[in-house]
Amino acid sequence: MTKIRIAVQKSGRLNEDSLKILKDCGISIDNGKDQLKATSRNFPLEVFYLRNGDIPQYLRDGVVDIAIIGENVLIEKGKDISIAERLNFSKCRVSLAVPKNVSYNSITDFEGNKIATSYPNTVKEYLASKGVTADLHIINGSVEIAPNIGLAYGICDIVSSGSTLFKNNLKEVEVMLKSEAVLAVSPTISEEHKELLRKIQFRIKSVLQARQ
Ligand code: PRP
Ligand code: MG
Repeated sequence: MTKIRIAVQKSGRLNEDSLKILKDCGISIDNGKDQLKATSRNFPLEVFYLRNGDIPQYLRDGVVDIAIIGENVLIEKGKDISIAERLNFSKCRVSLAVPKNVSYNSITDFEGNKIATSYPNTVKEYLASKGVTADLHIINGSVEIAPNIGLAYGICDIVSSGSTLFKNNLKEVEVMLKSEAVLAVSPTISEEHKELLRKIQFRIKSVLQARQ
């Protein structure tokens, strides 16, 4: 029997809640933490544990049929990928922040300044919509350290609890967008897999309803 292939974040904030929602849907997965692929015992499904940022491309290429991913990642590099379901967990903001001691007035304060980020497309689009031009310094993680070491005037990153900003003496000055985990679908999904997706969606809807 054909199996639907789902991508789930390998490690990080979405991993646990993603596996939890599958479990709540009655889909059991044997969880060898070191395995990059696992098969469900009671549903025709295979799980691929992947890096967040790689998931849009895997969906596009049809290597996986569906994925549980942060909407912010799709906004950054998967605008062509459709969302089947919003999952109501891993809620966060994608925001601009500056050092606490900077007296910040408006978005134009970023004009001509350097912003450290892992979300260059999202920042560029936001700044363009405000008519502001800044210089982007693209880094993959620990973005919040950049202003303290003189690498940038401000940062753009995910804010969830706000504790990373707090610990690094930064303050959130602009919320660019709000995000949550979503169920995303490959543009090349087959009819057979669509049928399995419908079954999963049906279960997800009742799980989300029960959680309210
Ligand atoms: C993420 C994100 C922020 C932080 C936000 O980083 O890049 O730094 O979480 O969460 P908070 O508001 O609850 O503190 P993560 O810890 O995943 O590490 P990374 O940036 O090195 O990938
Ligand atoms: Mg971080």
